[in-house]
Amino acid sequence: MINNIVINIEGLTKTYDKFTAVDEISFTVNEGEVFALLGPNGAGKTTTVEIIECLKTPDKGKVEIFGIDLKDKKKQNDVKRKIGVMPQNFNAFDWLTVKENLEYFKDLYSSKISTDELINRVGLGEKMNSMYKTLSGGTKQRVGIAISLINEPELLFLDEPTAGLDPQARRETWNLIRKLKEQGKTIFLTTHYMEEAQELSDRILIIIEGKIVAGGSPNELIENYGGNKSVILKNCNKKILEDRGIKYETGMENQIQIIFDNNEQLFNILSAVTDDPNVEIEIKKPNLDEAFLNLTGRRINAEGLAK
Ligand SMILES: Nc1ncnc2c1ncn2[C@@H]1O[C@H](COP(=O)(O)OP(=O)(O)OP(=O)(O)O)[C@@H](O)[C@H]1O
Ligand SMILES: [Mg+2]
Repeated sequence: MINNIVINIEGLTKTYDKFTAVDEISFTVNEGEVFALLGPNGAGKTTTVEIIECLKTPDKGKVEIFGIDLKDKKKQNDVKRKIGVMPQNFNAFDWLTVKENLEYFKDLYSSKISTDELINRVGLGEKMNSMYKTLSGGTKQRVGIAISLINEPELLFLDEPTAGLDPQARRETWNLIRKLKEQGKTIFLTTHYMEEAQELSDRILIIIEGKIVAGGSPNELIENYGGNKSVILKNCNKKILEDRGIKYETGMENQIQIIFDNNEQLFNILSAVTDDPNVEIEIKKPNLDEAFLNLTGRRINAEGLAK
C-alpha cells in the first residue's frame, strides 16, 4: 500500500530577526500515523508546528497539508478546518466547568458534535461538572485534547502534551493518544521525552537547533544509532566462555558483559552457559536514550534541557 502523505515539508526555514530557529528541514507525515518531533528546549519544534498550523509564515520552503500549498493563503482556511490543535502550555477558562469550557469552544467553531460525545471520547465523564481550575494537570490536558477534537479533525497537533505531568497522568494521556490513532486520526506530536516518543510514535524526527539530526521508526533509530546489544552474566564460569573463544569484559560485582550483534552470536553465548546452574542472565538492548546520546552527544533532562 502506498502511504497517503498528509504533510509534506521541503526545505522549511524560519528566522526570528537574524536567528534561524528552523533551518532547511524536510519531512513527510503519513495518514494515520503518530509522528513525533523530538528535541530539547528551543530546538524549533513549536515554530515548525505553528507554521504547519498556518499560525506563522516561513521564510523559505514548501509546506503542503492535505496536498494544499500553504503559500495559497485563501486555501489556508480549508486546512484549518481539517486540523485540531492543542498548543503548548494549553489553558482554558479557570472559572468554567469542563462542560462549560467545551460548550464555549463548540459555539465558537459552530461545531455540531455533542458535548457528551466529546466528553466520552477523552474520558472526562466524571469531571464534566468540575471547575477547570480544580483539575489535575493530566485532566487539564484532556480538556485541551477535547477542544482540539471539536471540529472532528483528521490531523491533530499536540505540542508537548505531557510536559510536566506525573508518570501516571503521562501514561493515561498516551493511552488517549493511542485511542485517537485507532480511530484513524493522524497525530503530530512534539516532545522532549524519549520514552514518550519511543512508546507512541510510528516515526520520529530528531531536531536540534533547528536542524534534523535523524529520523525513522523508534526501532530503526535504536538499531542504527543505539549502539551495542549485550548479554550480562553474573556468577558465570569464565572458563566456559574462554573455551568457546567468546570475548568478554569483566565489570563490577562479578559481572561479565558480552557484546553481540545478531541472534546467532546471542545463541552461541546462551548455549555456552546453558549447563551452568548458578549463572544469572540479562540481555541488554539499547533504547532511544542511547540512540539520542550517540547521535547528539547529549541527553535531555526532565525539563527538556540538553546536557
Ligand atoms: N517569536 C519569537 N521571536 C524570537 N525568537 C523566538 C520566537 N519564538 C521562538 N523563538 C526562539 O526560536 C527558537 C525555537 O523556539 P521553539 O519555541 O520553536 O522551540 P521548541 O523546540 O518548541 O522549544 P520548547 O521545548 O522550549 O517548547 C528558540 O531559541 C526560541 O527562543
Ligand atoms: Mg515548544
